[in-house]
Amino acid sequence: MIESKQSLFVQRCIAPECRAEYGLDDRLYVCSRCGGLLDIERLEDVAVEAASLRDVWLKRRSSADARDRSGVWRFREFLPFDDDTAVVSLEEGNTPLYDAPRSADYCRLPQLRLKHQGCNPTGSFKDTGMTVAVTQARKLGARIVVCASTGNTAASLAAYAARADLLCTIIVPGGQVSPAKLAQALDYGAKVREIDGNFDACMNAVRELSEDDSVYLVNSINPFRIEGQKTVAFELAEQLAWQIPDHLVVPGGNLGNSSAFGKGFRELLRSGFIERQPKITVVQAAGAAPFARFYADASRSTLINEEHPKTLASAIKIGAPVSWQKAWRVVSETGGSVITVTEQEIADAKAVIGRDGIGCEPASATTVAGIRKLVEEDVIKETESVIAVLTGHLLKDTDYVMKYHNQELVRPDGERIVSTFGNSPVRVSASRTAIDEIVGAALRGRPS
Ligand code: F0G
Repeated sequence: MIESKQSLFVQRCIAPECRAEYGLDDRLYVCSRCGGLLDIERLEDVAVEAASLRDVWLKRRSSADARDRSGVWRFREFLPFDDDTAVVSLEEGNTPLYDAPRSADYCRLPQLRLKHQGCNPTGSFKDTGMTVAVTQARKLGARIVVCASTGNTAASLAAYAARADLLCTIIVPGGQVSPAKLAQALDYGAKVREIDGNFDACMNAVRELSEDDSVYLVNSINPFRIEGQKTVAFELAEQLAWQIPDHLVVPGGNLGNSSAFGKGFRELLRSGFIERQPKITVVQAAGAAPFARFYADASRSTLINEEHPKTLASAIKIGAPVSWQKAWRVVSETGGSVITVTEQEIADAKAVIGRDGIGCEPASATTVAGIRKLVEEDVIKETESVIAVLTGHLLKDTDYVMKYHNQELVRPDGERIVSTFGNSPVRVSASRTAIDEIVGAALRGRPS
């Protein structure tokens, strides 16, 4: 077994013509030589005994050690920290992998499984990255942590900053964040600043802020975020008894999550834990799809930002995805694809996932909508195994849910969404007859 030692890791620029190397404690977010994105790299000559590590990781599930109770730090041999690091954790990770028969039917597949990252402490996948980024912030002696956010990063950072006793400032697009997410950030004590402009403008603002040395930026451009999020691939592989599915489908916004899954599976493959990677497919909302357009363009020279992204899936309303080069590497390396789905498709898929008893937020439902499309187009075959990643919890955006079920959901272009699976509440009198009628009607509608 190897020990987790900082010296086994470096930060490296991902640009093939640069590959500049930096120490772990160099506080940078992009390469200072060429401006490229940075990866945390685990040095190649570190031997890993996959079989014994798998055993160690499994045993940690029943341990009382705070790091073992975290679904991220349980895999700490692959994280760039010394073993005595004080971690900032809310026992993130350890999220369920659900069988979803109704969603499978909807996609015309015999089986579909959903990895529900919305079951993290603040209700989204961001927690798996934030535990690592905030641990690094504290290690570097930062005083203030900042992020731009469509809401979930904000909620997550606010919580972890509170645990770490760090000041926290969050920049969000004014009037475009779901109240539930904002409420979390406020309750956890973050300073929330709403600006006139979209997520991409917020991102520019925090990048400027982070030029000050006391400020630490924890959006997914920060490679330590990706380190945490990559462990979800480890946890998923373990849940699948190390039998890797044919397809893994994730929503795409700023493209940190897809990059992280790819990195996780790449490292597992390289260290002999698995024999192949899943094909990783990214699904974007049609109105906020710069990455899908890049993918569809045969020349693929560079990604062209979407100046005015539009979607009701506010979590992924992003036009200038910061991590697109990393995500592109993942999609091309694994043989996946990048597709779009419409607002109508997202809304219906979300309701179908709900009927499986598994709630998610609109951005997460792009996955099931996308899988249905890929099956229709025969890109995914009936015989193949498929996993969709749900990134956020249903309660993150109840306004959307209520509007859908009450036939009041309106697309950004003003057209009404058809509530194909609508289920609106009915007001009745509190009398015995009325109740009997309801029970009778419900039974008549269902075969015994
Ligand atoms: N799903 C949800 C629920 C999200 O909150 C996000 C991103 C994504 C998917 C997309 O993930 O950016 O890694 O491609 N939310 C960010 C935020 C931007 O600020 O909360 P990605």
